[in-house]
Amino acid sequence: MLAKQALQLIKTRRTCRSFDKFTPVSDKALENILEAALWAPLSIYQLQNRKFVVLKNQAREQAAALLSSDPSVLKYMRYMYEHQPWGREADWETKAAAFAVDIGAAPVMILALAQKNANVHKMEHNVGSLWCAAQNMMLQAHAEGLDTGVVTFLSEKIKEDLLRAIGFSWEEWAPVYILNVGEAVEEPLPLEREAENTLVILDN
Ligand SMILES: Cc1cc2nc3c(=O)[nH]c(=O)nc-3n(C[C@H](O)[C@H](O)[C@H](O)COP(=O)(O)O)c2cc1C
Repeated sequence: MLAKQALQLIKTRRTCRSFDKFTPVSDKALENILEAALWAPLSIYQLQNRKFVVLKNQAREQAAALLSSDPSVLKYMRYMYEHQPWGREADWETKAAAFAVDIGAAPVMILALAQKNANVHKMEHNVGSLWCAAQNMMLQAHAEGLDTGVVTFLSEKIKEDLLRAIGFSWEEWAPVYILNVGEAVEEPLPLEREAENTLVILDN
């Protein structure tokens, strides 16, 4: 039964891009989500050189304002909608523009930071374990009856400004993603996954 429920949880999680800003996330749910982040797999180096920075209220507003000035946020949305058939509703451009204004308007953002490491392999591992944590957080939030959406951004200038605004050094830390957490106003349809051309089973 647990196996079925786990698969159901995984398959019904969606990336949401429109949240109800005024429905708060409970402290207990947030605590569980952060605990799930901590328990994600660690790399072979056992590196825990990472931060999960919770941004609420003014801190969230400040981060959203900075991110909304990064053209890559809208560029990514445009790319995604233009390449995904389910995104081609007549009003997708309006929705994408609305997302870019307030980055989805979730009441809570969790900023994932990897400690910079000159060793490319170690840095890859740092970033990899943060993405494992992203999935853990998304699934835990989903189990709590909440919605999430991961947001990436490209501008080094915005990354630096964001870090400065929250008191972290750009020389030491690299923002990897922001995870929006809250209650969705609108949940997108699932993008069907292709098993046929993706799964390769060798058994001989
Ligand atoms: C590495 C990575 C980067 C992503 N970056 C963004 C992003 O910048 N903005 C966004 O809206 N969604 C982003 N997403 C979410 C994907 O667009 C989303 O997972 C995909 O469209 C499938 O939808 P689903 O999560 O609802 O199944 C990202 C996901 C991953 C794994």
